[in-house]
Formats: sequence, structure tokens, C-alpha cells
Amino acid sequence: EDAEKGRYDHYMHKEIHEQPRALEQTLQGRLGDGVALDDLADETLDGVERVAFVACGTSYHASLYGARLLIERGVPASAHLASEYVTAPPPARAGTIVVGVTQSGETADTLAALREAHSQDQPTLAVTNTVGSTAARECDDALFIRAGPEIGVAATKTFSSQVATLALLAEQLAAREGTGRGRPFRRALAALPDGVRTVVESDDVRSVARQFRDSDAYFFVGRGTGHPVALEGALKLKEITYEHAEGFAAGELKHGPLALVTERTPVFAIDTGHNTEKVASNAEEIRSRGGPVVAVGPADSPLGDRADAHLPVPDTDPALTGVLANVHLQLLAYHVAAELDRPIDKPRNLAKSVTVE
Ligand code: G6P
Repeated sequence: EDAEKGRYDHYMHKEIHEQPRALEQTLQGRLGDGVALDDLADETLDGVERVAFVACGTSYHASLYGARLLIERGVPASAHLASEYVTAPPPARAGTIVVGVTQSGETADTLAALREAHSQDQPTLAVTNTVGSTAARECDDALFIRAGPEIGVAATKTFSSQVATLALLAEQLAAREGTGRGRPFRRALAALPDGVRTVVESDDVRSVARQFRDSDAYFFVGRGTGHPVALEGALKLKEITYEHAEGFAAGELKHGPLALVTERTPVFAIDTGHNTEKVASNAEEIRSRGGPVVAVGPADSPLGDRADAHLPVPDTDPALTGVLANVHLQLLAYHVAAELDRPIDKPRNLAKSVTVE
């Protein structure tokens, strides 16, 4: 095991650092004059007008992100927690493809949701890291994220590769209606591995983790694609540090969560470069109540000057800034957990793949 971890103390840290390479593999051969998803059969996307994602945990957050990328391109999309999809199945509609996003391809809730969709005669697609997995075998078709094996219970590189894969899918679906973002977006995607490399190598978040390691709770807020990143930042932190962490839509702060803010609850505010002024005013609301704010966003983000700390992300298309911001939050969770001496790769009560409903 130590040999496999190489120079890293934990698989999670190694896998965070593997992300540039994982993303290169995800994108390999899929970007050119257009998007080419050669693993898909020609007919898989025929007649698809709408996408319903089903997923759990980190894969659900990637699905929320993917749904926003589709909606931005005029393709109706929704993301469902797989367990809720099964509890209250939405009515089947012609033209909807149900896409199960699952790293392992074995999560029981996600498989149950896909089987439910299948029983309603809806086409299904697995977006997975695992060739030969149950999801890949049972769905009508499968699209592989090609991130390489992930051992740490807390998903890291698979989130980035899932979002990149869903961005490719969004472009492909939108291209048919002429609503794709085209070459500039493909260029930004191609540059994503380098952007992630810059963030992991800077490790700017280490001092922030040290500064806030004794906090009462950690909050994460964002808008648009920043919202699933806020949810994912909080999930990562609670999973491996056992500290209380929550992610909120920034606009919802004033509807309840602000009551929790004190000088002992740092709030990580994600600025994707979209709706920046609104996120900045949410950050003001937090600071005026004494809460420390850590801005996570572009180097020139107006939040930077008004925050207690700033974790900068390299310039990219605003639709991809969230992927870079998320890498800072993965490292935040990792470093806080390391400071608190937690068993990072095997957090208590959690499993890498949950095969019961
Ligand atoms: C477990 C893992 C999470 C993961 C979730 C979904 O809860 O601990 O890290 O996000 O399952 O897994 P999947 O394999 O379906 O992506």
C-alpha cells in the first residue's frame, strides 16, 4: 500500500494531485473540431430533448453542475438524488434520457433509480469510471470518465472528471440545436488540466486550513455552478474531518443560515465570475455579522479585497471556474483533516461504494 501511495501519506492527497492527468485522460481524443464521444452509440442521443440525472453523494453534486451546464445551453435538465427518485419517481416523458452518474457503477440507490427509469421505458445512460460495472452493463449505453482508479473513500479526481465529461455531453447535445458554446469553450476545457495543476501546486489553502482548524463550523456558499461546488466543499470537509460543514446557495443565506454565522464560523464564498456582485454582497452580509470570509475565485475577483483570505483560481471560462475552486476545497478538507489527525482515507462509518439502499 505504501508503495502505491508513493510520496503521499494518503490516497486522497495522491488522487487530488493526480487530477491534471485524470482530466487529460477524460478529454483525450474527445476535443477537436467538435466534441467526439466515441464510446456512445450513434443512436444514444437521438431524440433526446431533456436530461434527468440520478446520483448520490459527490456524483450528485457533479450532476447538479452538469444540469446547470445543459440549462445554460438551452437543454432542459434536472438532477435528482437517486434515493428520492426511487421514492417518488417523476412521470416518464418521451425525449428524456435518464443519466446515472456513478463513479463505481455499483451504488445501490443509483442502480435502483436507473432500473426504475428502465421499467418506465425511458432510455438510460451510465456515466461511470468503471468499465464492466453493473451500471455500465445495465444501462442502454455507457460513457466513461476515465479518471483511473480512486481508492480514497472521499471522491476527488472522479468529481473533476465527471464534470468534464458532463461538459462534453452538454456541448454535444447543444451542438445539435446550434446552442453549443463551440471552440472557445472547447479551448477552455482543453486548458482545464493546466488550471488544476496550478491550483494543486500552489497549495495556497494550507495556511488557511491552519488558520481555521479550530472553528465551530465551516460554511460554503455559491451561486450557479458555485452552488454544487459549495455543497461538495462541505461534504468533503464533513466526511474526512468530522467537523460540522454545510453548503448553501448564497441567496439562501438570508433565509436562515445567517443565524448560524459567528466569528468562529468561516464562510467560503465561491465566485465563479458569474453574478459576482451578488456573491460579493452576500459576503458583506457575513462579514457585517462578524463571520470570517474566504473568497475562492479569480485573482481579480472583487470578493478578494473584501475577504479575510483569498484562494485564487486561474482564469478560465466562468462555467469551469467551479472545477478549479473545488480543488482548493478538496485541499482544505485534506489539510484540516491532517491537522486534526483524522484517518483520511477511511473515515468512520463511510464506505467507498454503498451497495445497500
Ligand atoms: C459513497 C462514497 C461517496 C460517493 C457516493 C456515490 O457514499 O463515500 O464518495 O460520492 O458513494 O458513489 P458513486 O460510486 O455512485 O459515485
